[in-house]
Amino acid sequence: MALEVIASGQACGAEIVNIDISKPVSDSNAEIIYHAFLEHQVIFFRNQEITPSDQRRVCSIFGEVGSYNRPKDRQHPKHASDEIMLISNVVEEGKVIGAHPDGEMMWHTDTPYLAKPHKATTLYSVEVPLIGGNTKFSNQYAVYEALPNNLKTELMGKIAMNCYEFGTTVKTFDKYDRKKVPHHPHPVLRKHPETGKTATYVCPLMTEEIIGMDEEESKNILSLIYALQAEARFIYEHVWNIGDVIIWDNRCLLHARTDFPKEERRLLKRVTVSDNHPVMAA
Ligand code: SIN
Repeated sequence: MALEVIASGQACGAEIVNIDISKPVSDSNAEIIYHAFLEHQVIFFRNQEITPSDQRRVCSIFGEVGSYNRPKDRQHPKHASDEIMLISNVVEEGKVIGAHPDGEMMWHTDTPYLAKPHKATTLYSVEVPLIGGNTKFSNQYAVYEALPNNLKTELMGKIAMNCYEFGTTVKTFDKYDRKKVPHHPHPVLRKHPETGKTATYVCPLMTEEIIGMDEEESKNILSLIYALQAEARFIYEHVWNIGDVIIWDNRCLLHARTDFPKEERRLLKRVTVSDNHPVMAA
């Protein structure tokens, strides 16, 4: 049967069916998959059984496999890796084996606190809770389009500071300590290098201020954008089954996680795709 792309019918997202990605993907299927990724921003395959090297091979359809920048001393010694990051609350030998173990995660894009944030991220689900722990995706092209025209104009050319303390899933304070955490400025409005479309590129977990703007005004504008990003009309929510492989475009999407019971095991394997510097929208 030929591979098929089935749109979620929501703000973004599509399922790709009739393909076993544990096997090498033909050039023509890779082209369809890449096109679906650009069009739908987040794509997924169900019922897969893949090894880490299969996951890396799938990533290579999208670009160069990215490095896992979490400090080694924060990784479980038995599972430490330069490429595969475990997202998990599973405990082995008294230590949790993965990052972001429990609960809700606020909206974010991956690694905007680096000069070259990751282009895309893949997650492969190995263990999932019976309830919750869903990953939500918010379409940042649509959020940009929904901004008032005067704000679109005001934000053109503006830069925001992105910071992150590893391990934070819900930010309940105003600012990270920039002397201690990685941080990097990026455009508030980003031009997607392949589609040419404009996307908002700020998020509540990591963006702290619009540089050069009055503090109160910066806070108000960011709050307005964050409220839009969380509106259901811009979101696709992925309910995980074991064996799902999902890949999303960090250049035009945010993602977040819903809460789930602490006592339920959750294990996902994450491999990223690297990128160049973000380009400012004009
Ligand atoms: C992440 O944001 O890297 C993790 C998402 C999830 O656990 O669903």
